[in-house]
Amino acid sequence: MRFLVTGSNGLVGSRICALLEERGHEVVGLGRGGRRTAGSYLYLPVELTLEADVLTAIESSSPEVIIHPASMTEVDACEKNPEQAYAANVTATAAVAKGARRVGAHLVHVSTDYVFDGDHGPYDEEALPNPRGVYAITKHMGEQAARVLAPGCAIARTAVVYGWPPAGRLNFGAWLVSALEKKQPLKLFEDQFVSPTFADSVAAMLVELGERKLGGTWNTCGGEVVNRVTFGRALCEVFGFDSSVITPSKLADLKLPSPRPLHSGLKVDKARSQLSAQPLSLSESLTRFHAAWKSAPTPSRGG
Ligand SMILES: NC(=O)c1ccc[n+]([C@@H]2O[C@H](COP(=O)([O-])OP(=O)(O)OC[C@H]3O[C@@H](n4cnc5c(N)ncnc54)[C@H](OP(=O)(O)O)[C@@H]3O)[C@@H](O)[C@H]2O)c1
Repeated sequence: MRFLVTGSNGLVGSRICALLEERGHEVVGLGRGGRRTAGSYLYLPVELTLEADVLTAIESSSPEVIIHPASMTEVDACEKNPEQAYAANVTATAAVAKGARRVGAHLVHVSTDYVFDGDHGPYDEEALPNPRGVYAITKHMGEQAARVLAPGCAIARTAVVYGWPPAGRLNFGAWLVSALEKKQPLKLFEDQFVSPTFADSVAAMLVELGERKLGGTWNTCGGEVVNRVTFGRALCEVFGFDSSVITPSKLADLKLPSPRPLHSGLKVDKARSQLSAQPLSLSESLTRFHAAWKSAPTPSRGG
């Protein structure tokens, strides 16, 4: 099948492209600026907020499936730049959805657990969103744009995605590893509950939604809801790091510009019962993360 993947330089997009290639699909990756990932897929630089450029790229590629993880993902940057967040998370999604409809492609749109307020998580696919903060609101609006403009699309929500190595920006897991390697003292939230997700695992679920052309809402994340301290300590155990450098802290201590859901997390019963690509346990995801980290050449390990 021919797939088009947005955000192919990003954490999730790069893993989707790699997996699609492994599975023998034809892949067109859209990224901003130059290509920053390996792989032999066709790469097109496209600014997704420019609708005409998006439509041209989609029409010239004529994909059967579009997977759309591209997004402005830095939560506090979105809060400070609402116009940019709206353009990247709503305007761009609308353009991608219009393109999907125009060429008859099935759309898999990637969203977030941040569409929920985090007062009473974990949430299943039927729970009512109540987004707080610019990132969350624009991601929720992006979901609506996809549903309206590409009927039958899949909305795939994920959470705290980590992996190794992304091209450039550190994610939560990679940031923890790089700090723990240097034995830096770390403060982690004990009052924020999330569903940490290994990037390769969410990529596998997104690819399956695309291959099977499944629509509707899907929670595509890790199989366990934990607080960030528990995650950090579990990572230390798998990687062999000293966990005594981790000090529990509260989210409110940090006075972040944007609100974050506290009791978040996503229930994965639907994915467990209907997908072959299964949500992973925390230990399984961390074991796979460790294997990816060991095989990645990084300066810090002299590789
Ligand atoms: N990472 C998480 O913890 C997490 C949690 C929940 C949900 N999600 C969702 O999962 C999806 C993938 O996240 P990720 O972690 O892979 O994010 P990421 O690493 O930040 O990748 C997003 C990609 O989108 C690209 N992009 C942003 N605005 C663009 C624009 N206007 N035109 C073209 N490209 C643009 C970025 O380009 P540049 O590289 O040039 O910036 C980046 O490569 C997102 O929809 C996000 O909301 C992520």
